[in-house]
Amino acid sequence: MAVKRIHLEGTASTNRYLSWLLKEGSFPGEVLITADYQDSGKGQGGHQWHSKWGENLLMSLLLFPAFLSASDQFQLSRVASLAIIDVLKGLGLAPLIKWPNDILINEKKVAGILIENGITGKNISHTIIGIGLNLNQKDFPVFPVVATSVALESGFQHNREEVTARLLEFLITRYRYLEEGRVSYLESEYLKQLFLLNQPARYATAGSEFTGIIRGISDLGELLLESYGITRTYAFQEIRYIPGGRRN
Ligand code: BTN
Repeated sequence: MAVKRIHLEGTASTNRYLSWLLKEGSFPGEVLITADYQDSGKGQGGHQWHSKWGENLLMSLLLFPAFLSASDQFQLSRVASLAIIDVLKGLGLAPLIKWPNDILINEKKVAGILIENGITGKNISHTIIGIGLNLNQKDFPVFPVVATSVALESGFQHNREEVTARLLEFLITRYRYLEEGRVSYLESEYLKQLFLLNQPARYATAGSEFTGIIRGISDLGELLLESYGITRTYAFQEIRYIPGGRRN
């Protein structure tokens, strides 16, 4: 069945709007919410997601992956990351996935993903896949992470509706692969696009800074990072890449 679509001019957050629809019990099927503007856009780690009115893609997709167990949550992040990569490559760009939720072009952040899951028993009863993709915005406030947009990287403006429709198509294609159990295919595709895979770079944890090499991602979605010959696993927010910290 086709995914329904609802477009909002303004909302607090498209993720929050979907949570509200679910709480109301008024929404049975797969649906994509898009908005021109969010006044309380949610980012990772409690940060806000800022986006100028009408310039970028602000979207949340509601799906019901009851076939996934709670420990499979990272599979949904893989699906979302790969779909964004598909779209950006289609626009002639060279994006990479920065584990776990960012999409970069030339080491600058062009898109972020915020996934919020509902768990019932051992399974994921619903997922809200929130995506912010900088499309036509050309100036950004200075954040700890340097931002870019498709317009800045490609040199021209893009039609928001066309890119949204394409992204939805890729999301659904990648999600259907997951439903069909093509997990190792998705894993290998993800690794091919992973920023700094097998490349030495500087990382920081709460207590130290060191040079490490990403060797992969665990089944639970943790980073596998080798340093001094030992590979350790790190959960999100336990570790961060130091921008510009690539070593040759
Ligand atoms: C990040 O911090 O990188 C994740 C950002 C996710 C932002 C998107 S914009 C559409 C959706 N609605 C939200 O409130 N957040 C996500």
